This record gives sequence, C-alpha cells and structure tokens, in this order.
Amino acid sequence: MGFCLRSLPQFTAYAISLVLFLSAFTFTSTEAYDPLDPNGNLTIKWDVISWTPDGYVAIVTMFNFQQYRHIQAPGWTLGWTWAKKEVIWSMVGAQTTEQGDCSKYKGNVPHCCKKDPTVVDLLPGTPYNQQIANCCKGGVLNSWVQDPSNAASSFQVSVGGAGTTNKTVKVPKNFTLKAPGPGYTCGPAKIVKPTKYVTADGRRVTQVMMTWNITCTYSQFLAQKTPTCCVSLSSFYNETIVPCPTCTCGCQNNSTHPGSCVDKKSPYLASVVSSPSKNNYAPLVQCTSHMCPIRVHWHVKLNYKDYWRVKVTVTNFNYRMNYTQWNMVVQHPNFDNLTQIFSFNYKPLTPYAAINDTAMLWGVKFYNDFLSQAGPLGNVQSELLFRKDSSTFTFEKGWAFPRRIYFNGDNCVMPPPDSYPYLPNASSRQQISLLTLMVTLFSSLAFYFAYV
Ligand SMILES: *[C@@H]1O[C@H](CO)[C@@H](O)[C@H](O)[C@H]1NC(C)=O
Ligand SMILES: *[C@@H]1O[C@H](CO)[C@@H](O)[C@H](O)[C@H]1NC(C)=O
Ligand SMILES: *[C@@H]1O[C@H](CO)[C@@H](O)[C@H](O)[C@H]1NC(C)=O
Ligand SMILES: *[C@@H]1O[C@H](CO)[C@@H](O)[C@H](O)[C@H]1NC(C)=O
Ligand SMILES: *[C@@H]1O[C@H](CO)[C@@H](O)[C@H](O)[C@H]1NC(C)=O
Ligand SMILES: *[C@@H]1O[C@H](CO)[C@@H](O)[C@H](O)[C@H]1NC(C)=O
Ligand SMILES: *[C@@H]1O[C@H](CO)[C@@H](O)[C@H](O)[C@H]1NC(C)=O
Ligand SMILES: *[C@@H]1O[C@H](CO)[C@@H](O)[C@H](O)[C@H]1NC(C)=O
Ligand SMILES: *[C@@H]1O[C@H](CO)[C@@H](O)[C@H](O)[C@H]1NC(C)=O
Ligand SMILES: *[C@@H]1O[C@H](CO)[C@@H](O)[C@H](O)[C@H]1NC(C)=O
Repeated sequence: MGFCLRSLPQFTAYAISLVLFLSAFTFTSTEAYDPLDPNGNLTIKWDVISWTPDGYVAIVTMFNFQQYRHIQAPGWTLGWTWAKKEVIWSMVGAQTTEQGDCSKYKGNVPHCCKKDPTVVDLLPGTPYNQQIANCCKGGVLNSWVQDPSNAASSFQVSVGGAGTTNKTVKVPKNFTLKAPGPGYTCGPAKIVKPTKYVTADGRRVTQVMMTWNITCTYSQFLAQKTPTCCVSLSSFYNETIVPCPTCTCGCQNNSTHPGSCVDKKSPYLASVVSSPSKNNYAPLVQCTSHMCPIRVHWHVKLNYKDYWRVKVTVTNFNYRMNYTQWNMVVQHPNFDNLTQIFSFNYKPLTPYAAINDTAMLWGVKFYNDFLSQAGPLGNVQSELLFRKDSSTFTFEKGWAFPRRIYFNGDNCVMPPPDSYPYLPNASSRQQISLLTLMVTLFSSLAFYFAYV
C-alpha cells in the first residue's frame, strides 16, 4: 500500500483509530448494530383482543421499523414455541405451513397442533372473508422510509389450551423470523402496556386485554457468509476504471466449483437459468471477476464551476433474482449539498443529527423500482448533482468517491483506496487521506473478521 508513516504522532493516531475501528466492529458483529440505522428493528406485537373459554384471540402485527431494509418476495416466515400445550384453532390473514398431529381431536379439528408452529402470510388475492387489515401481501414488508404504509403485516390467531386471564396466560417462546433466509435474531416476548385504539370517529378509546412485544434485529453476518455487493469507480479526469475487487463475493473456479457462474455468452444460458435449483434463493451469477450479484458503479462525470455531477449505475448479475423495491444507502460528505437527483427517490438519513452525509436512494414506482434479473435490462441508473462547498470540495485524494454504500441494507465492498483514480497531476499516492484509508480499512477488516 502506497502509504508512508512519517512521524510518530501520525502513527499513534493511526494505531488508535485502528483500535477504535476494531472495537466498533466487534460490537457490530455481536450486537447486530448498524451505525446508519441505530434503532432499526422489527417489532412483533401480540394484542389479545378477547378471552375465549379455553384461550384467547390475538392480533399479531409485525412492524418493520428499519429505515432501509425490507423483506421482499417470497416473504417472511415466523415461528415460535408454545409455552404450554396450546393449539391454534383458526387463523385469519395467515396460515401455518404444517398442521401437525391433531389426531386426538374429534369433530372440530384445530388449524395447527404443533408445539412450534411456522406461520406464513397469505398471498394477494385471498378472499375477503379470510383477510384482515395489513394481511395477505405474500409476506412482503416494505422499509420504513420507502413505504411506511406497507411496513406492517398482521394476522389473527385463535389459541386454545392457553390461559384465559392475563395472570394464567403464558407468552410463546423462542421466536424465529426468516426473510426467508437467516439474518434476524428475536428477543424474548415482553409483556407491555395494553395497546389502546381510538375508534374511527375519534370519540372513544378502547383497550386490548393484554399485549406483548418481541423485537428482532438483523445482522448481515448471520444472513450470508460472503458479501453480496461491490463497488467500482471511474472519473472524467482519469481513464482508469477501477473494478470491483477480484473475488469479492466468490472466485471463479471451474475445477472446484464448475457451474458456480454462468457465462453470458453461453449457448446454454437460457436452460441453465430456468433450471430449478436445490435452493431457489441461492444466487446464480454471471461470470465476473468479483462474482457479486450486485455491482454499484460510481462515475464522477462532470465538473462545473459551482457544481459537480456523478452518475450511479446499479447492475444485477444474478439470474435468479428480480429486486423489487430495491434501495441503496450512500455515504458521502457532499450529501448535505445535494442539489438535484434524477430518476431516483431520495431521503437524507440523519442517524446523528449533526451529520448529514448519508442518503437513501430508491427507484421511482412503476419506472425503475424493479431491478430486473441479470441481462440487458438488469440495471438502473441515476445522476446526482452536488453543490460545491469550497471549504471541503476537492477531486484529490479520492474525495469524490463514496465512503460507504449499502444495497438493500447489505454492505457493498469498496476497492482499496490506493487504487482510486487520481488526478493526473496529483503528486503521489501518499496523499491518500487518513480518513479514506481508515474507512477502507474498516470495511476490509469488517469483512475479514466476519468471513474468516
Ligand atoms: C424499535 O424501533 C422503534 C422505532 O425506531 C423504536 O422506537 C424502539 O425503541 C426500538 N426498539 C428497540 C427494542 O430497540
Ligand atoms: C391484568 O388485569 C388486571 C385487571 O383485570 C390489571 O389490573 C392488571 O394490570 C393486568 N395485568 C397485566 C400484566 O396486564
Ligand atoms: C428455538 O428454535 C430453534 C429453531 O426453531 C431451535 O433450533 C431451538 O432448539 C429452539 N430453542 C429452544 C430453547 O426451544
Ligand atoms: C410494543 O410495540 C408497539 C408497536 O411497535 C409499540 O408501539 C410499543 O411502544 C411497544 N412497546 C414497548 C414497551 O416497546
Ligand atoms: C481452483 O481451486 C483449486 C483447488 O482449490 C486451486 O488449486 C486452483 O488454483 C484454483 N483456480 C483458480 C483459477 O482460482
Ligand atoms: C470458467 O468457465 C467460464 C465459462 O465456461 C469461463 O468463461 C471462465 O473464463 C472460466 N474461468 C476460469 C477461471 O477458468
Ligand atoms: C423477473 O421478472 C421477469 C419479468 O416479470 C420474469 O419474466 C422473470 O421470470 C423474473 N425472474 C425471476 C428470477 O423471478
Ligand atoms: C440534509 O441535506 C439535504 C440536502 O441538502 C437537505 O434537504 C436536508 O434538509 C438536510 N437535513 C438536515 C437534517 O440537515
Ligand atoms: C452545504 O450545506 C451546509 C450544511 O447544510 C451549509 O452550511 C453550507 O452553506 C452549504 N454549502 C453550500 C455551498 O451550499
Ligand atoms: C489514473 O489513476 C490510476 C490509479 O487508479 C493511476 O495509476 C494512473 O496513473 C492515473 N492516470 C493518470 C493519467 O494520472
């Protein structure tokens, strides 16, 4: 790395920052903490709306409070373990995947007798008499920023063999949430103040019998062993295109993993892509040096007197996935002076009130909110116009490139900073700022520790 330690203080600062970054990371991996969405969680609320002779009826609602992480098709799967010998008499707006052994019941047979039921949402188009509000979206939950009106999902469950008062009822245990793969960890159910509802005319407040909440958090490190996204860079002032780091998401190796990727010129492309896989959600990527399903390209396009312009392109290399309602999060210090953005939606994310350097971008409905599977249509693009702030703006030291990018909430691996395109007359690589270096060190270390 073209990096020169000139003095002891600088070295000390470097060492201290390294330790800070390392400890920050340790925290990240164990606590599923995301610094750009520190309060992000998914809360599951059980409202007991009435007691029955042998149990209760509850409305279960999942709220996706995450700013930019959504659950797309094929949707969520929720599981738990009953604390006693409960059964589910009936459900509205969702169903269990298995009924289990209900052989001891005659006449009226429960919907599910399993000790650990697994629940999935019903599909859109479910008959109205089997629906309740916020149900039947095929398990799709939008993110809080993108579409708060579609960030909740509900179903109703009638439970038998359970307590029939708030003293005797036992809360279910061991909640699991799949989306549909791993990634979420759910805490225990906590009994909270009963939810109050205001009637439609706003003149009366009603209250449920009892409420408990479960909070689930996401960790990318639990979700997948390898990264899923990488960043490539280019600029008008240097013809070098810095590609995604080789083997970011996997290596092409025809001897050990034949068929790990598909050559886009392969005559068998269509048949390989349409053939069913063992695991339908495992990506089938186009052969590239990085092997990532998603690449984000950041091109510094134009320099005006008071403004500068960037073109961002997101390319899908996965033949098995259309990304619906995709989003990305970009961190760059000039976002506090973003003047215009073309063909994407934009919202500043300000997890820490003072710092306005992070933006969430997502597609425009019915225009480019659908990122098609790999192929000629598998990309979306936008241009960003930033107003220069003379005290910070520079094309030197890689300043014009993003500090961090997430796609659908997962970190995109950046190229090493000493490879960034630089101004032709820049004196040397030693000018890479400590900040850029630290940011990259952070990302590479994060991935090193997470995936080793
Ligand atoms: C979950 O997110 C909501 C909304 O951001 C927040 O109010 C709540 O405190 C969070 N819960 C936990 C346990 O972090
Ligand atoms: C249970 O109900 C009683 C009144 O019926 C109420 O005083 C008490 O606070 C409730 N407890 C819980 C945990 O909701
Ligand atoms: C919790 O659920 C998971 C998956 O369903 C299971 O593997 C685990 O054994 C359960 N733990 C307890 C304490 O029931
Ligand atoms: C329980 O969840 C609901 C819905 O997310 C929320 O409004 C309420 O504040 C939560 N209660 C606690 C104590 O976290
Ligand atoms: C493929 O894997 C084999 C065995 O692990 C290794 O010897 C070989 O160098 C690899 N080839 C490439 C191109 O990475
Ligand atoms: C692996 O096979 C693909 C398709 O046949 C080919 O395009 C690619 O160059 C091969 N990679 C290596 C490392 O041999
Ligand atoms: C993606 O969408 C296109 C057009 O709707 C469809 O033909 C294709 O089968 C979809 N691919 C996948 C992997 O779902
Ligand atoms: C952050 O910057 C954007 C774009 O300049 C601006 O619209 C927004 O109001 C700013 N937000 C805060 C909290 O400063
Ligand atoms: C850029 O944004 C910051 C913070 O919002 C503001 O103080 C500054 O004046 C802006 N600079 C320009 C050139 O608009
Ligand atoms: C462009 O940047 C690369 C570093 O990525 C550097 O090797 C090259 O010399 C630069 N080109 C010019 C003309 O300065």
